[in-house]
Amino acid sequence: MKRIGVLTSGGDAPGMNAAIRAVVRAGIYYGCKVYGINRGYCGLLEEDFEEMELSSVGDIIQKGGTILKSSRCEEFRTDSGLKKASEILKKHQIDYLIAIGGDGTFKGLEKLSAYGIPSIGIPATIDNDLAYTDYTIGFDTAISTATDAISKIRDTSASHERIHIVEVMGRECGDLALYTGLAGGAEAVLIPEEEMTVEDIAFRLKTTQLRGKKHSIIILSEGVHDITALKQNVEKETGFDLRLTILGHVQRGGNPTAFDRILASRLGIRAIELIMEGSSTKVVGIARNEIVDVEIQEALDMKKEIRKDFYEMIKILSI
Ligand code: F6P
Repeated sequence: MKRIGVLTSGGDAPGMNAAIRAVVRAGIYYGCKVYGINRGYCGLLEEDFEEMELSSVGDIIQKGGTILKSSRCEEFRTDSGLKKASEILKKHQIDYLIAIGGDGTFKGLEKLSAYGIPSIGIPATIDNDLAYTDYTIGFDTAISTATDAISKIRDTSASHERIHIVEVMGRECGDLALYTGLAGGAEAVLIPEEEMTVEDIAFRLKTTQLRGKKHSIIILSEGVHDITALKQNVEKETGFDLRLTILGHVQRGGNPTAFDRILASRLGIRAIELIMEGSSTKVVGIARNEIVDVEIQEALDMKKEIRKDFYEMIKILSI
């Protein structure tokens, strides 16, 4: 009987619970024992394991966060931490590890497999920053959350005829800003992959004001500019009165959308199928609505490209 460990690691993402549920239920369906590892790689190093039953994952498909908890684990980045983790897994006779998380989680998984631990990764992060998959679990829900917030901000900015800068998460990837900008009808989107100066923003705002549009939304991807400095610089350049909102961790919470639940269910089942087929050192993903799998290293080596067509569409739609 195969013994599989499952953990969630890195920033949590809505839909992680649906993925845990799929792994546990499909694992048991195929005759495996599944162990939940609490608090990601930190919990692994502390041997914080529990056997999961069918009922352990009841009533969680709709819940945000992760019932297994998550962490960013410094010790796991070291050779001694990886060696210790592999020894712990061997001691508990865990034959396979499934890690649900983003690129940091996958890097850890790839290193752990060098210590003889067969592993499979399931992509879950609101950043959507993994190139090999069209979507990561949690991204769709985060777009919906951010879009909903922008609609509310739009109400007040229209009433007061103001310009509003909204900062969204995404780490070094502009996808969350880009998709949210398109869904939220933003006038400008500032992302790490495309250069846009204060003068460019000012020109766009002045042009739209000339045609009678008195309120605008600018989406800023975190880390591209300091939002307060950006607000001051745009105010100086335009003479307009701006407001700002940092959406922050609200984007990581909430019930997953149906899209994220379905994606998580498909990826969780595929991860178990790969184990049953004897595959390892792979990550699962989705490309053109088909479930795919690639080597972890290959996935990490691929360079993420943004949807330039989306970026151009925002420009066209905000003239
Ligand atoms: O990777 C997900 C993410 O939410 C990023 O968008 C953000 O930069 C980061 O995590 C925040 O991390 P933390 O919750 O550890 O502050």
